Amino acid sequence: MSIEQKLELLRKKQKEAELGGGQQRIDEQHKKGKLTARERLDLLLDKGSFEEFDMFVTHRSKDFGLEKQKYFGDGVVTGCGLINGRMTFVFSQDFTVFGGSLSKAHAEKICKIMDMAVRVGAPVVGLNDSGGARIQEGVVSLGGYADIFLKNTLASGVIPQISVILGPCAGGAVYSPAITDFVLMTKGTSYMFVTGPNVVKTVTHEEVTYEELGGAMTHATKSGVAHFVGGNETETILLTRKLLSFIPQNNVDDPPFKETSDPHDRQDAQLNHIVPDNPNKPYDIKDVITRIVDEGDFLEVMPDWAQNIVIGFARLGGRSVGIIANQPAILAGVLDIDSSDKGARFIRFCDAFNIPIITFEDVPGFLPGTVQEFGGIIRHGAKLLYAYCEATVPKITVITRKAYGGAYDVMNSKHVRGDMNYAWPTAEIAVMGPKGAVEIIFKKELAQAEDPEKATEQKIEEFREMFANPYIAAERGYLDDVIEPKSTRPRLIRALNMLETKRDTNPPKKHGNIPL
Ligand code: HXC
Repeated sequence: MSIEQKLELLRKKQKEAELGGGQQRIDEQHKKGKLTARERLDLLLDKGSFEEFDMFVTHRSKDFGLEKQKYFGDGVVTGCGLINGRMTFVFSQDFTVFGGSLSKAHAEKICKIMDMAVRVGAPVVGLNDSGGARIQEGVVSLGGYADIFLKNTLASGVIPQISVILGPCAGGAVYSPAITDFVLMTKGTSYMFVTGPNVVKTVTHEEVTYEELGGAMTHATKSGVAHFVGGNETETILLTRKLLSFIPQNNVDDPPFKETSDPHDRQDAQLNHIVPDNPNKPYDIKDVITRIVDEGDFLEVMPDWAQNIVIGFARLGGRSVGIIANQPAILAGVLDIDSSDKGARFIRFCDAFNIPIITFEDVPGFLPGTVQEFGGIIRHGAKLLYAYCEATVPKITVITRKAYGGAYDVMNSKHVRGDMNYAWPTAEIAVMGPKGAVEIIFKKELAQAEDPEKATEQKIEEFREMFANPYIAAERGYLDDVIEPKSTRPRLIRALNMLETKRDTNPPKKHGNIPL
């Protein structure tokens, strides 16, 4: 064979690989409103940066006539490329080849790029669109999944791992995305469930559609499995790029710095009036956050689930920060099972990846009731507490209003290694709210009063004057300062500058035992 013929053969094979399962199946994919595996990578990666691995891999199965059905790549396109100029490893499942199902060879390709990502310290983004285990390969395929699960687990906390769901993701296959740091879904075309609607009907007699059971909005609003939802595939993939812009390449790297035109010393007079005089009136903590962070740019994570806590990424003076904030506009910002889980997982991500944590606190306490107690609020609330206690990244708290009871301790108090703890003059820091406190400590006195209602009101007012303020905590040094709300941005930026070289460690151990 001449060199020309050899080159011709290579180009022919490359072309064949690029067509995946063939033009007809590509057309079907497009008809469903879905992009192909390669089109998705084009959107995800910086133009022209994709380096493909294992283009010519095929499966080795001989059962069910599979030896006659071979497609280059075997249902997954893998490799590396740049996202915002930074190295990222990627796999993109190709639904046009055996429905993107996972064979041993397909799993090996994914494992290879995961190993490489860990070796060079770069994130992995997986674009999932798969019918699950390659049925014809049986247990060999299951073994391939388990290989991936193990690698996901070992890479957890070492490199960021992001799962983008762009089609079916069912059965045990859901557990790879579930182990990764962030799950993004697309409205209308992606779904995740452990058992599909047919099995559900047989076992529990429930009638439920794919969308209701495992669609994007189900996981964004009910289960808390999805961190982000895009309206279409392009939106979801662009969200992935934005998410990565806040995150370092690995656990020994710092998050990327982004120069800002927003002045570091910018004050915002409106913040002085954002907390209503009436302590029972809500306000939106997201207004506080966007007024403080660089250019008002806040990437909220899980915006539709457990909305009584707000989490997300932003920058302060160009530095990435993770923000955790009680949301007084939803359930008065109370901590419950879901908000504790949501906050705890986010804190652990930030801590694993050197992202400073900023806490905005306005919390009346933990949600009372049998639903919460029977559901294990003790166990779940403990996760949030544990996550704050264990975190060694710079941790800064701003108490905007209520910091009552155990929630005061939990929400990054000085006692759990908060580095800089500020309060606004509107802060109320006490064991409990004035009404509850007065009804307990003056129970007998109030029962004997001539006008118990009036006497209660008076006591509440006295209690509020005495305790519902930041100054007792400040006297003890439990707060580093009481600040004017308008100066919050410059104060946070200065604190972050001071903490830039912070080093803190936990005692050596195999790992802690977070109350899961
Ligand atoms: C082999 C598969 C496949 C699979 C789909 N295909 N799933 N091939 N193994 N798991 C093939 C189909 O034969 C078809 O091939 C092509 O992919 C497209 O499939 P369609 O059914 O035509 O597409 P669609 O109507 O869009 O339906 C998609 C689907 C459905 C909902 C994903 O294919 C389906 O239900 N598949 C089986 C899903 C499943 O039960 N998987 C196992 C889950 S358990 P042709 O040649 O016609 O194009 C699991 C365990 C993981 O995954 C365990 C980890 C521990």
